[in-house]
Amino acid sequence: MRTNPTSGLVDTQGRTVRDLRISVTDRCNLRCVYCMPAEGMPWLPKDDLLTYEEITRFARVCLDLGVTGIRLTGGEPTVRADLPILVRMLDGLAPGLDLSMTTNGLKLAAMAEPLRAAGLRRVNVSLDTLDPARFHRLARRDRFHEVIAGLEAARRAGFEPIKINAVLMRGFNEDEVVPLARWARERGFQLRFIEWMPLDFQQSWDRARLVPAAEILDAIHAVFPLEPAAAGDPSAPASLYRYRDGSGSVGVIASVTRPFCGHCDRIRLTADGQIRTCLFALREYDFRKAMRGGASDSEIAELLRAAVWRKEPGHLINSPYFRQPARGMSAIGG
Ligand code: 5AD
Ligand code: SF4
Repeated sequence: MRTNPTSGLVDTQGRTVRDLRISVTDRCNLRCVYCMPAEGMPWLPKDDLLTYEEITRFARVCLDLGVTGIRLTGGEPTVRADLPILVRMLDGLAPGLDLSMTTNGLKLAAMAEPLRAAGLRRVNVSLDTLDPARFHRLARRDRFHEVIAGLEAARRAGFEPIKINAVLMRGFNEDEVVPLARWARERGFQLRFIEWMPLDFQQSWDRARLVPAAEILDAIHAVFPLEPAAAGDPSAPASLYRYRDGSGSVGVIASVTRPFCGHCDRIRLTADGQIRTCLFALREYDFRKAMRGGASDSEIAELLRAAVWRKEPGHLINSPYFRQPARGMSAIGG
């Protein structure tokens, strides 16, 4: 079946997919309140997880179709056994592949070096507070200092840039906008604030507790004057601002208040082998079944092109028709 007239991964909106996010596990060693319940997560059965061979095969097909960047996510990717082996396998697919990972940082103290040696190029570390007690309440684990040790290890291992992802919730950590900005500036970390999205497993999102990107920028600008950074990659979700005093930049990802769906170039592969063409997709495409059922590479490619062709034009968070997907962020991959 011909689905579209060109050979790459294009959709009806004229967008081209270049970024593949691969969730390698739905499990995590934290339980952040905006992501998971304290207990009772229904983990994927082990047999449903794609093997490293299956992930690498799927990634190879994607690279043949024009994907240029791969990001590993979870859950928490570092809790999957032998992650450096997968990194090495993916890095071997294409010289110069932009291979990155989003992590909570807990295991970086031990793993930054082997991951880097295996070919990982960039890391984004999630950190929403600088207060260890607050971290304990937010992540339901008393492990703040391990994240800090992980960040130091990432730097020693030579990762550059190191980005920090922070999610703010009104009444919980909104007072940390400026402290986080100061802290990251002083250390040369690229901080990005991500607007809280309705993606938690327990469906507790509350628009009234979302801190809009514009408010975050105003708060920082009042203390550390900002100016828009030159426009970079239009498909990058973060709007970047430079500190006028020359000490780096800060970003905001205004997923809710200023959606960037029109420039989205991503697809997501869940740990159990489903393709999601949008974070908020209500349907998934079962590539585990296709691969385990004996589909050839060109059949996989054709199925993928057909799925991408139908990529959702955008999310509906701001519409009355919004329905939250059944799976949460930890099962989809950030
Ligand atoms: N809204 C916004 N960001 C989220 N993250 C996890 N859940 C949400 C949510 N509901 C962030 C994590 C991590 C990245 C993968 O996404 O903090 O940095
Ligand atoms: Fe784990 Fe990330 Fe979810 Fe926190 S947000 S519980 S670190 S997957």
